[in-house]
Amino acid sequence: MKKVVLAYSGGLDTSCAVKWLSENHGLDVVCFSAFIGEVKDKGKLIQKAQAAGAVKSYIEDLKREFAKDFIMPALWAHARYEGKYPLATALGRPLIAKHLVRVAQKEGAEFVAHGCTGKGNDQVRIEVGVRTLDPKLKIIAPLRDWEFKTREEEIEYAKERNIPIEVTKASPYSIDKNIWGIAIEAGILEDAMVEPPEEAYVMTRAAAKAPKKPKYLIIEFDKGVPVKVNGVEKDLVEMIEYLNAVAGQYGVGRFDMIENRLIGIKSREIYEAPAAEVLLKAHEELEGFVMDREFLHYKRLLSEKYAELVYFGLWFSPLKSALDEFFKSNQKRVTGKVRIKLDHGHAVCVGRQSKYALYKEKLATYSKGDVFDRKASVGFMKIWGLPYEGMGEK
Ligand code: ARG
Repeated sequence: MKKVVLAYSGGLDTSCAVKWLSENHGLDVVCFSAFIGEVKDKGKLIQKAQAAGAVKSYIEDLKREFAKDFIMPALWAHARYEGKYPLATALGRPLIAKHLVRVAQKEGAEFVAHGCTGKGNDQVRIEVGVRTLDPKLKIIAPLRDWEFKTREEEIEYAKERNIPIEVTKASPYSIDKNIWGIAIEAGILEDAMVEPPEEAYVMTRAAAKAPKKPKYLIIEFDKGVPVKVNGVEKDLVEMIEYLNAVAGQYGVGRFDMIENRLIGIKSREIYEAPAAEVLLKAHEELEGFVMDREFLHYKRLLSEKYAELVYFGLWFSPLKSALDEFFKSNQKRVTGKVRIKLDHGHAVCVGRQSKYALYKEKLATYSKGDVFDRKASVGFMKIWGLPYEGMGEK
């Protein structure tokens, strides 16, 4: 029988999709799950997939790869879609696409499938990713094709076929989580004027409920990579998980935004990304400390473009790769320490230090020890203003 590799989460949609793919397309279903957020019980997930009708399962902890190959480039790029969203979900999808292709090739599968809906960005990211990496693979998106219109119909289908599903009361929200952040949508959040209820948040405490005393973090970067926090060495995944926990307690990294989806819809999204918020701020600060003005100002334009490319599903594209090279090019200078203060919903940089600092106290000072040649300013302004002389005369 022909095979399909399905990106499987163990939730209702993809559990039904296993059976649906075999019933409607006559395919053997191989399930693939990547742990890039919470690590679930592997054994249980395999059992669940089997009970739904999977012939084989690949369940893999890919947090390390996710952090190194997807989060780090985005951190170096200072990538935030529309100036806010640090792209957690958008970064996870190309990793899934890459591994769907890998498993499909290994299994000799002709098809891959995913559980994305027909209205979102995620279908684009997975499908464009898969087609870029292996255009021979055929893609099936059960949620776009099947007949179910409601959750209840899906539950009915699952019950009729003994597909194990959790009978817990479904959350009214659609949540996607990985270590770089959580996206929360649907339910009451669709009313753009309604303040997100506190229970919608998963990872952060309300700022008002944050500890009274601010907390200071000294984050140490080595060639652009965060390696220590308050003197304690951590690998990337540990660092991100630690910062999610600590900054999350202070209500850092909450975003409420109306964003422009690639497919033309404006959607209301709630994001939680405490570690991303802290690390982006810290990295931006340190880079600003060690790089020159021309570089920094130009980089801002490229960061915006980069975030768009990632959001639009073009992770595996030449421009995105070229921009990665650009952002990587100066990282050896991004070495040093940043002092971050967590305080009631805010992460603020309150100090920085680096052996590559371009900030020179003796040039900046208004006190004793000033070495700046004030007289030289005269000539500078004469030339700088030359082209404009008289231009504003009436
Ligand atoms: N709007 C975000 C994006 O396009 C998040 C989508 C996450 N999906 C979800 N089921 N909440 O990246």
